[in-house]
Amino acid sequence: MHLLQRNRRLRQSSSIRALVQENHLTTDDFIVPLFVVEGKGIKEEISAMPDYYRMSLDLLSKEVKELWALGLKAVLLFVKVPDTLKDNKGTEALNPNGLMQRAIGCVKEAVPEMVVLTDVALDPYSSFGHDGIVENNTIVNDPTVEVLAQMALSHAQAGADIVAPSDMMDGRIGAIRHSLETNHFPDTGILSYSAKYASSFYGPFRSALDSAPGFGDKKTYQMDFHNREEALTETLRDLEEGADIVMVKPGLAYLDIVRDLRNNIEVPIAVYQVSGEYAQLKAAAKLGLVDENSLMYEQLIAFKRAGANLIASYFAKKVAEQLRS
Ligand code: PBG
Repeated sequence: MHLLQRNRRLRQSSSIRALVQENHLTTDDFIVPLFVVEGKGIKEEISAMPDYYRMSLDLLSKEVKELWALGLKAVLLFVKVPDTLKDNKGTEALNPNGLMQRAIGCVKEAVPEMVVLTDVALDPYSSFGHDGIVENNTIVNDPTVEVLAQMALSHAQAGADIVAPSDMMDGRIGAIRHSLETNHFPDTGILSYSAKYASSFYGPFRSALDSAPGFGDKKTYQMDFHNREEALTETLRDLEEGADIVMVKPGLAYLDIVRDLRNNIEVPIAVYQVSGEYAQLKAAAKLGLVDENSLMYEQLIAFKRAGANLIASYFAKKVAEQLRS
């Protein structure tokens, strides 16, 4: 054979492969989700998420210093709220001295340059475990958006760099942007969970925060996973309303959505490798069925290849440790 083109020429050695490698992972790509609880000296493993922990503020401070030393530059905060503080309107979410507000201050004090992102949604604060206010078994949109706009402002006042609304109410990005602009926080960013699907992949996360819906499901606000085109519509609306970064969630099963967005918009795109994805890989590795490290890496590269700029992942610290060695 005298082939003009041989695809294998550029695969001959690891050096040649490195020269033509299209996608790379760096610590700059990652957002580290962190779960915070009240108390002192608490670092409890989340049973549905092996090797992942809920931490009290003192240990959060230590953790973010370690993350920073590894080159990780952004954390996404979630809080576990005691049942006694939960109500239908998520009143505790607006407490200037609430756990989230203190957690923001704690991270900023430990590592002032760490980018602090915060989850904006009512579910950890809701006695119904829903992302919005419930009236007659319905999650009501507009009153919820009012609370979310106040909640985002409260996070900005506490020092958050970027607020991340994960609730999927209509019009919340515009309301949050307005609230930030009119209250003198023009530089606080919004990472919108713009294409967030109603997914069974969130199961372990809900057990981590004790935030599973008390009735029904989240299908009246989160997207229907049978739909693809709708993701672009949702995302374009959020951009018109003032989002700075958009996000697709879950990750691996939704790479078509990441690529659609990449082909159509120019803002940074984040993808969330969610708790169920993490738990699946951990479980399969524990059974000895797959190799955890190499599969983890392969999945994370898949996000980059699909077109994501940022990856929120429970593997972030592990990857950073491996990238260093
Ligand atoms: C809350 C929220 C959820 C996740 C992030 N923010 C759960 C949900 O929508 O039910 C899921 C993250 C994960 O599974 O890792 N609005």
